[in-house]
This record gives sequence, structure tokens and C-alpha cells, in this order.
Amino acid sequence: MNILLTGGLGFIGSHTATVLASQGHELVLLDNLCNSQIEVLDKLKTITGKAFTFYEGDVRDPQLLKNVLSGHQIEAVIHFAGLKSVAESGVEPLRYYDNNVVGTVALLEVMKASGVKRFIFSSSATVYGEPQYLPYDEEHPTAPMNTYGRTKLQVEEILQDIAKSDPSWSIACLRYFNPVGAHESGLIGELPKGVPNNLMPYICQVASGKLPHLNVFGDDYETQDGTGERDYIHVMDLAEGHAAAIEFVSKRQGIEVVNLGTGTPFSVYDLISAFEKAADCTIQRVVQSRRSGDLSIYYAKADKAKTLLGWQANRSLQEMCNSSWKFQNSLKA
Ligand code: NAD
Ligand code: WQD
Repeated sequence: MNILLTGGLGFIGSHTATVLASQGHELVLLDNLCNSQIEVLDKLKTITGKAFTFYEGDVRDPQLLKNVLSGHQIEAVIHFAGLKSVAESGVEPLRYYDNNVVGTVALLEVMKASGVKRFIFSSSATVYGEPQYLPYDEEHPTAPMNTYGRTKLQVEEILQDIAKSDPSWSIACLRYFNPVGAHESGLIGELPKGVPNNLMPYICQVASGKLPHLNVFGDDYETQDGTGERDYIHVMDLAEGHAAAIEFVSKRQGIEVVNLGTGTPFSVYDLISAFEKAADCTIQRVVQSRRSGDLSIYYAKADKAKTLLGWQANRSLQEMCNSSWKFQNSLKA
């Protein structure tokens, strides 16, 4: 199938490109490089042996989008392009609504006009908010606790309305939990700009000596060891989830919301231990107070993905840490 990946040079988009390319799909990548590097394109070529068609541009550029959709006979779009920092979204809400919501509407307008109606959207577990029960299933009420989460929920609602208005659309909203890890080659991985906000990239930089210690945000939660628990999912499992979703939207019409997680939570200390094993080092840590806006524990009910998409996550926490560390080391070379 001819597939457009918006945000295709980013963390999840680039890993998904490796899986889809290996399955014989023809890919076009579009990215404005606001949070990625052009060098990823060469790395994708090394990994897959294929040269991808790439457009440096913005999803809010309708003329460019129109040319890409028609010029490459695009049959489906996976929309990764978006801004993803919870903290930043509170400081710059308009930038987040413009990029994530207005940007998606602009893309959908062009798709509609071009008759391209297969759409996979990068949503997030953050749309659920404070757990009323766990694991979160897809029926759990949505009440995002930050601007970033509201941009994701608003797009989901827009997509529900589109599917209602025109049943010939095929839409999958994929709610990712905590994606971590890297491609097995060590060539691509997560490359945050500045000091990382998220746990795994932060630990990587402590292990490599770039940062002195990890701040553990709270050890007084009501969890097994007092630290926050999350459903970490290997980015290559997530990438394979997108391949399964592509098959799904090519066969079925309508809209489905699907969690992509493992269904198993791990604590901050679990992740530190697995990482110490991967890197054969000690991660220095300092316990701090809780980070504002953090939840104690959340994880996915992953059954719907299995039933509907025939997909489930297979890779272990240890594999997530090993591959992250391999990627971190490749940055030194
Ligand atoms: P990322 O920042 O690595 O990738 C996003 C890519 O989109 C970047 O390469 C960026 O340059 C590009 N981009 C952003 N706005 C654009 C625009 N207007 N036009 C064109 N390109 C644009 O992020 P990621 O981790 O790969 O996340 C991909 C998607 O998944 C995002 O929508 C994110 O909100 C969502 N998501 C991520 C996580 C996570 O923890 N990584 C969890 C849940 C959902
Ligand atoms: C994980 C755990 C922290 C950093 C975020 C977004 C979410 C989704 C995924 C996009 C928590 C603890 C962290 C550190 C720490 N993204 N921690 N020290 O907050 O679960 O989810 O990324 O959709 O929307 O909110 O991920 O990796 O930041 O935190 O102790 O330096 O690690 O308190 O318990 P989070 P995270």
C-alpha cells in the first residue's frame, strides 16, 4: 500500500517506517523537523536498504499535502506529526492547539478532498486522566489533565464526527502508553532536544555521564515500591501495532479506538534495575517530591488490540533497556 507517514522522522514514525518497509509498503515521509533530525533519513536507508521519498514540510500546508497525496497515489495516512510535551503544552497552549488540532483538521480536509479515507491517529493514554479503575480499557471515561491530552482528545472527537458523517472512512485512534526503547540496530531511537522530560531518555543520559543523577519524582505513592508505575511499551512492538492497524483499516470501515500497551506496569525502580543490568552500571538517583500532574499508576487493558488487530506486545522491559542503551552508545560514535 502507498502510505504517508506525517512526523515520519520522529521517534515512533521512524521505527514504524522500518516495519512497514520490510512488509513491502511504499512509504512517503513528511516532517517539518521541529523535533527530529534529517540524518534519520540516511539511517532508515541503512536499516531497510530503501531510499524513502521525503518531504520537509508542515501538515498545515494544504498545497504541499495535496501534491503529496495525489503525486504518490497515497491510500492511507498515519498521522504521527504532533507536539508531545505535557509541560510545554501548559506554557504554550495556542501552539499546541494549532499544531495538533488545527494541523490535523488541515490534513483531514486535504484527505477528504483527495478521496483518501484511511487514517491512523497517534493518540495517547493521557486522554483517560485520573483512573476510575485499572487497567484502563477503551471504555474508561476520558478526562485529560493537561493541554496536550486535550489536544489528543479533541482530535479523537473530530474523528468520531467524521466517521459518523461519512461511513466510508476507516479510522484507528491508537492510544499509546509509554513508548521506550530503540531499533535493534541501535541506529535510531529517541532523541529529545535539551534535558529530557521522560524517564528512559533521562536514565540514558545519566548512564552515559551527560547528567549527574536521576531525580526520582516521589517514592511515597501507594505502589509496590512507592515509585510511579507505568505501562512501558517497546517502540518496535508499537511499530508492529501500526502495521496491524494498517491491515485493519485496509479491510474495515468505521472508527475504532485501541489501546497499545503491554498490560503490565513497572515502577521507576524496576526500570532503573533493568537499565543497570543493560548498561552494567549504577544509576545515581536522588528522591525528590512528586512531579506536579503525575499519576501514581496506570496501565492498559490490552485485549482489544489482540482481538481486533491480532497484535500484542512481546518485548520485555530488559529488551527496552538494552536497545535504549545500545542507541545511546551509538551517539558517541
Ligand atoms: P516525535 O516528536 O519524535 O515525532 C513527531 C514528529 O512530528 C517530529 O519529527 C516532528 O518534527 C514532526 N512534526 C511535529 N509537528 C509537525 C507538523 N506540524 N508538520 C510536520 N511535522 C511535524 O514524537 P513521537 O514520540 O514519535 O510521537 C509521535 C506521535 O505520537 C505524536 O503525535 C505524539 O503526541 C504521540 N504520542 C507519543 C507518545 C510518546 O510518549 N512518545 C505517547 C503517546 C502519543
Ligand atoms: C514515567 C515515570 C515519573 C522522569 C508522559 C506523558 C504521556 C505520554 C508518555 C505522550 C513517572 C517518573 C520521570 C524523571 C522520574 N506521552 N520520572 N524521573 O509522565 O508517564 O508520560 O510520556 O502522549 O502523555 O505524560 O512518562 O517518562 O515522564 O514518567 O521519576 O526524570 O517516571 O514520575 O512515574 P509519563 P515519564
